[in-house]
Amino acid sequence: MTRIAYVNGRYVPHGQAAVHVEDRGYQFSDGVYEVIAVHRGRLVDEHGHLDRLERSLGELRIAPPMTRRALRVVIGEVVRRNRLGHDGMIYLQVTRGVAPRDHAFPDAADSALVVTARRLPPFDAAAATGVDVITIPDIRWERRDIKSISLLPNVLGKQQAQDAGAYEAWMVDGEGQVTEGTLSNAWIVTAEGELVTRHADRAILSGITRRAVLELARGEGIGFVERPFTVDEAKAAREAFLTGTTVLVKPVLHIDGQAVGDGRAGPLTGKLAAFYAAHMKTQGESP
Ligand code: PDD
Repeated sequence: MTRIAYVNGRYVPHGQAAVHVEDRGYQFSDGVYEVIAVHRGRLVDEHGHLDRLERSLGELRIAPPMTRRALRVVIGEVVRRNRLGHDGMIYLQVTRGVAPRDHAFPDAADSALVVTARRLPPFDAAAATGVDVITIPDIRWERRDIKSISLLPNVLGKQQAQDAGAYEAWMVDGEGQVTEGTLSNAWIVTAEGELVTRHADRAILSGITRRAVLELARGEGIGFVERPFTVDEAKAAREAFLTGTTVLVKPVLHIDGQAVGDGRAGPLTGKLAAFYAAHMKTQGESP
């Protein structure tokens, strides 16, 4: 089956989908993106992702390429044309558009929109196997709340993790506190049993999965604290896990080679993964 991409007003075969060489995303990373999971043909937390997209665009003063209503039609059409009746992923990217290379904003450029889709094996958050993480210095800029396409530190960090035989790298700020992973948010259950994830300010991306898991915990009467935690605290924790659109809820078994708890997926992580799996099944609107 031919994959179809949406590029600036046209639905084109994925292999022929292309943008202009002077697209500011290509030259300056002057753009933002979102990744939305599709589960059983339905978008997971679509509105949360579109709200965050609008916020990222606003922070960078990039004009939305179209209304939210029109964007939802385009996304729905990409889901349909790619026959994403089961599980998959939608990637969407908005850049400041095409203009002669000049750092300052162009006077007249239309924002550029690309939407692509990918089919994936069925998601099952509750069956997620555990992974290992390493810790690395966080060398990113100070506006990590913006979902910018400028991802070099994340790319380098993820590769460093892979080279070390780990799955993810937790980035650590100047105070020795974990900010987040290269493509996921970081969580621990402390030695005292407290569920902790860093508060969402400019230091991290406010993950949509993170938010959903917090709300599920709240609904189930599970207490939590949003605050920074150190690498030492994480290594002494009972449990640790990651959340994100592409990782769902993933137990962390080792940090820098040191076992977290008994080195197996923890019970609270398992519970939250099961709640999230149920959340993926029951919510989500047909695009
Ligand atoms: N990454 N932190 C970072 C740095 C991320 O890049 C992501 C998502 C997250 C989790 O956010 P969410 O729950 O909204 O997916 C946290 C996407 C999936 C990616 O770059 O592929």
